[in-house]
Amino acid sequence: MTRVCVVGSGAREHALADVLGRDADVVVTPGNPGIPGSTARPPEEITADLFVIGPEAPLVDGLADRLRARGASVFGPGADGARLEGSKAWMKDLLAEAGVPTARHGTFSNEADAVAFLDTLGDLFVIKTDGLAAGKGVLVTEARADAVAAVREYLSGAAFGDAGTTVVIEEGLTGPELSVLAVCDGTRAVALPPAQDFKRVGDGDIGPNTGGMGAYSPVPLAGPDLVGTIMAEGVEPTMAALRARGIDYRGVLYAGLMLTPAGPKMLEYNVRFGDPEAQVVLPRFTSDLAALLGAAAQGCLPADTQFSDDAVVGVVAATEGYPQSPRIGDPIHGLDAANELEGVFVYCAGVGADHEGLVTAGGRVLSVCGRGATLAEARTRAYDGVSAISWPGMHHRHDIAQVAVKGEATP
Ligand code: AMP
Ligand code: GLY
Repeated sequence: MTRVCVVGSGAREHALADVLGRDADVVVTPGNPGIPGSTARPPEEITADLFVIGPEAPLVDGLADRLRARGASVFGPGADGARLEGSKAWMKDLLAEAGVPTARHGTFSNEADAVAFLDTLGDLFVIKTDGLAAGKGVLVTEARADAVAAVREYLSGAAFGDAGTTVVIEEGLTGPELSVLAVCDGTRAVALPPAQDFKRVGDGDIGPNTGGMGAYSPVPLAGPDLVGTIMAEGVEPTMAALRARGIDYRGVLYAGLMLTPAGPKMLEYNVRFGDPEAQVVLPRFTSDLAALLGAAAQGCLPADTQFSDDAVVGVVAATEGYPQSPRIGDPIHGLDAANELEGVFVYCAGVGADHEGLVTAGGRVLSVCGRGATLAEARTRAYDGVSAISWPGMHHRHDIAQVAVKGEATP
């Protein structure tokens, strides 16, 4: 049997391990006490037919290069391709070179220039750290004073350390967001079914940005034509621009788009599966995931992928205080009961263990997923799963996929 090593410790890696595990023998490093097959052994000490690297940090840090240098087959870009996520300024340059539609922007490390650029924008300001900030380095605001204050805090290093001492400032765009994850083999890219993510902490998209509070797939407003356009005008020119720079990109290219009145615009690229998108997209895959990712790692991707028509809705259960100051160490109740419900499965992220069982160990603790013939059924099941689970201070959004369910009902 193929042996696969998944690198990472979140619900995305749990989903990868679960779906890969249908056809392969899977080990997860470091994983967490809620993910079967977790081991504390580092990836460099593991022998596997295929390594699948989940999070961006080890990719940006060159883990894929180090494993490939030892002859391993790796799904995940090298440090060169991972700059797409590791530096927003670099990514924006590449988009411009590839002619991919995106928000007007400027890159600054000087406050006066940054503020002057802010004043050329409309009434919605977007400030981003150039470097990695765990999904939290983006401020979207209508208040110029807040934008100026953020520029100061970012550039001084007070807000995000070195990650923020260069900022990307963008015009604010509006419209629904869409995540299109493409599997790439260095030359070609195949789109997986789109998902929609919910980034703000509160119902109705209120409150600070988080790593993601829930997701669903399929997305009724994103049919095959739209995905075709996004691949042809976004992902494929990006792959060509990467190749032109000598970058052999093998892994996921995650396109984060806004569907604006003027057409789809690229907000960001991530260089890995989305979290929580992976938790709702991967379970819909109907063939051998290890074979697909292995083929991409070897540069010989098949032309097509197979997904079921089922819908999956995932709701993130978070700890009190997330995203600002998550409180941890509380016992998690009801996990087994939730997993036993029809069509419900739970992926573990910020999960630890003490002598009595599983406890909360991070802000986003669980992705509680429901699967059904329709989004409505999947959504009901996901929330039934959430209702079975509890710990002191647990919170979650109540409106994941709510609007999409209405869209599904209107042909
Ligand atoms: P990013 O990490 O670049 O995807 O940004 C995180 C989130 O900030 C996105 O999912 C959007 O919700 C929001 N965002 C980013 N860029 C823009 C923009 N130019 N206009 C409006 N919202 C944005
Ligand atoms: N769900 C957003 C991300 O994975 O970056």
